[in-house]
Amino acid sequence: MCGIVGYIGKADAPTVLMNGLRRLEYRGYDSAGIAILDDERVLIAKAPGKVSKLNERAHADWPSSLFQRASTGIAHTRWATHGPPTEVNAHPHLDQSGEIALVHNGIIENYRSIRARLEAKGHHFYSETDTEVLTHLIGDCDKGDLFQAVCDALHQVEGTFGIAVISAREPDKIITARRGSPIVIGVGEGETILASDASAIVAYTQRVIYLDDNDIAIITKDSIDIRDLNNIPVTREIAELAFDAAAAEKGGFDHFMLKEIHEQPESLGNAIRGRLDFNLGSSVLAGMGTSPRDLAELSRIVLVGCGTSLHAGMVGEYAFEDLADVHAEVQQAAEFRYRNPILGSRDMVVAISQSGETADTLAAVREANQKGAFVMSLCNVVGSTIARETGRGVYLHAGPEISVASTKAFTCQVVVLLMMALRLGRGRRFSRDEGIRFAREIESIPMLVAKVVAQNARIAEVAADYAKNEHAFFIGRGPMFPVALEGALKLKEVSYIHAEGYHAAELKHGPIALLEQGTPIIALAVDIPGKDKMLGNIEECRARGARILGVITEGDHETAECMDDFISIPRCHPLVATIPAVVALQLFAYHVARLRGCEIDQPRNLAKSVTVE
Ligand code: M6R
Repeated sequence: MCGIVGYIGKADAPTVLMNGLRRLEYRGYDSAGIAILDDERVLIAKAPGKVSKLNERAHADWPSSLFQRASTGIAHTRWATHGPPTEVNAHPHLDQSGEIALVHNGIIENYRSIRARLEAKGHHFYSETDTEVLTHLIGDCDKGDLFQAVCDALHQVEGTFGIAVISAREPDKIITARRGSPIVIGVGEGETILASDASAIVAYTQRVIYLDDNDIAIITKDSIDIRDLNNIPVTREIAELAFDAAAAEKGGFDHFMLKEIHEQPESLGNAIRGRLDFNLGSSVLAGMGTSPRDLAELSRIVLVGCGTSLHAGMVGEYAFEDLADVHAEVQQAAEFRYRNPILGSRDMVVAISQSGETADTLAAVREANQKGAFVMSLCNVVGSTIARETGRGVYLHAGPEISVASTKAFTCQVVVLLMMALRLGRGRRFSRDEGIRFAREIESIPMLVAKVVAQNARIAEVAADYAKNEHAFFIGRGPMFPVALEGALKLKEVSYIHAEGYHAAELKHGPIALLEQGTPIIALAVDIPGKDKMLGNIEECRARGARILGVITEGDHETAECMDDFISIPRCHPLVATIPAVVALQLFAYHVARLRGCEIDQPRNLAKSVTVE
């Protein structure tokens, strides 16, 4: 979603800020803007569309000497919420005096009443945004101390914010604050850079400070002074970023999505490394913070997440019930807190989120905490809000995921869930030998995935036959049902083909009415219990003219004969097979989208991290 960068340092602020914005492009946005302090004035450039357009605009409007001398500025990529993605609605916004500029992520919920109040005092607004209202409010509160003005304004707003503010009257500082939208500050030598996401910072420094909710910081080129909104100093530790700038580059691939699909043998290896115990036949997940006794006493596991993370939770549901004999259920994070969930201390709530910033998942975490459940998280982004608010959990170690379409985070989520299920299973039902056998299955996952990735060229050929369709159905049974949902989500988000995932048995309860000659059915027909029923469902589709692309088990010639086309994955445990199967579908979606000429890494209307409800 929206992205923030701020810089105060030696010089070159416009260049540093533009580079930062480019690093944030993957989050999804539809306009961009930049504000620079120069000679006690605020200069602003904005443009709808891409950062490249903003860069052209700034170079056309500003003298080239400004690019060398300006040392302070803020910049933004906007994902439209209040008002369309026009130049006028793009950030930064100015206050009434034109001397204070602000960029903002989040939503100011009570902006209408504040706007009406300020209009009554003579303020004029040019945009439809809540952000412009906040900027005017800060200007209205400013009696000669920008920090105090920001504090006073933030006391009056309801909603969420990550902000950065500059003022021509106090050119030696940037004020930044957060509530519900992340802000990370990079600590440099004679320069300080802030952003909503560490990927905009990592090229400058690995040393960062994450702000907590209701923190407000005064940043200069040499200092970072953090307080709460009541002006009480607070201490925040400096952390080291766990990735470098190269991890956020395409590394020779045409798209981040393809790169991240190919990285999966390595990312899965990182997620597994040091976490399997072949002596005990269990897994070691220290971050869970549970004793074997706690685990034995759990009565229920509730998995919450959105989108791809929700689908990973659905695979987890099968794993916990099958391996650990514990009641498990998946709930959409967006609905969780509105249905007044029944939770107690013997219920474990697992929040699953790549970004660790998804607003609905965060709200579910807070609800579960209120209800006294045992709450933990599976996040990829270290130091993210969900990871910090749950306090206990397991990091995915997938490395930065830049493509909006989640790939390596999904497979790492599933592998961590399998390791959790193994640990619970050992405490409740598995013998040591059974535990060791399943640990060996998990250990083999990177190799299984490497075999699927090696079929990239063949999957591209198969995809060519499906790229012209406008509809597709993905079907599966058992743990392959969530894989079908995930395959459909991948295809629709990157190729814009209308794709639906169904349980194979559900098709005949309605959707089968849509089948026509040649309608594509992507069938997860892997050789796992229930395959015979799956083959029956496939025949029902074939009888109505559907074209069947099967994901099947290597060497299963009988099943191959039931298909028009097939992609094979290595033989493995049914739960483990979800991972290579989904990788085949990721490659299929990628190649279909590529053939259709889609903007694969930043699909229209989508954002990498969804920080509004
Ligand atoms: O960061 P999160 O895992 O919480 O994000 C949840 C969804 O927004 C995300 O998985 C989304 O569905 C992806 N675009 C799917 O590829």
